[in-house]
Amino acid sequence: MDRYAVIGHPIKHSQSPFIHQQFAEQTQQQLDYQRLLAPLDGFADSLSHFASQGGVGCNITVPFKTQALEIADELTPRAKLAGAVNTLHLLADGRWLGDNTDGAGLVMDLKRLGVKLTGANILLLGAGGAARGALAPLLAEQPAHIVIANRTPERAEELAEHFAAFGNISSAPLTELTQPFDIIINSTSASLQGESLALTNDVLQENTCVYDMMYDATDTPFLVWAKEQGLTRRFDGLGMLVGQAAESFYLWRDVRPDVLPVLDALRKQLATTL
Ligand SMILES: NC(=O)c1ccc[n+]([C@@H]2O[C@H](COP(=O)([O-])OP(=O)(O)OC[C@H]3O[C@@H](n4cnc5c(N)ncnc54)[C@H](OP(=O)(O)O)[C@@H]3O)[C@@H](O)[C@H]2O)c1
Repeated sequence: MDRYAVIGHPIKHSQSPFIHQQFAEQTQQQLDYQRLLAPLDGFADSLSHFASQGGVGCNITVPFKTQALEIADELTPRAKLAGAVNTLHLLADGRWLGDNTDGAGLVMDLKRLGVKLTGANILLLGAGGAARGALAPLLAEQPAHIVIANRTPERAEELAEHFAAFGNISSAPLTELTQPFDIIINSTSASLQGESLALTNDVLQENTCVYDMMYDATDTPFLVWAKEQGLTRRFDGLGMLVGQAAESFYLWRDVRPDVLPVLDALRKQLATTL
């Protein structure tokens, strides 16, 4: 049986085994998918041990996404642009292909939610790994403009320059945002720390859609803030999580699973943790 895994540190809270087992059942694929805790200084060893035991593909999570980029023998264009790898696929000749499916998962989810990206003015909050992964797939949808705003403004400037050739993109300090946006995507880990971002109402218009890449059993601080501002189009990143997994599954198995039933099952499972 083909073996897959999600490798990270920590790893015990990862939902990936549940998602991929559901995809496998749905598409009648025989595969095994496990969590693999790699020591902080032992990602490369863990990966080669996994391959020697029949591992043919894996998802990579915090903090190994840049190490996976370095280890990959070949990269997809989107992984190269993102500068991070969240999916490794063992090729027939024994080399690892590195891909980044995070941004595709985000775009897939936004489309599922009926959010129109083409021609939209988008504010992307944060300039970390998740923002890097999101930018090329977002720009491919031809938005009117993307503004990146980050707590450390230099990182946003750097990212805007890196992606300037692919669309209309600029950066601004978080505290100096004055124009309204159609879509605001939070890719910061502020919600993870229970913190909200110091945004003013100037970034909002009546029908602004807000999306937090983070998800939880209850609203994240960012989504609580959006609700307090009277916004009705508020979404969390659970669909992105299932979407990026579906993209990895497609790379490995050449079959596209249906994300909706898995997203429903995961949402129910999350509610039981309340
Ligand atoms: N749903 C999914 O499938 C999915 C996939 C990937 C990531 N995510 C989520 O996306 C988030 C970011 O992940 P990442 O990999 O990009 O992390 P990362 O590389 O560590 O980047 C973190 C970003 O958050 C900013 N930040 C952190 N704390 C902040 C605060 N208190 N106020 C304002 N900004 C703050 C950082 O700003 P500085 O540059 O100033 O430090 C940086 O831009 C996490 O919540 C993660 O769970 C979700």
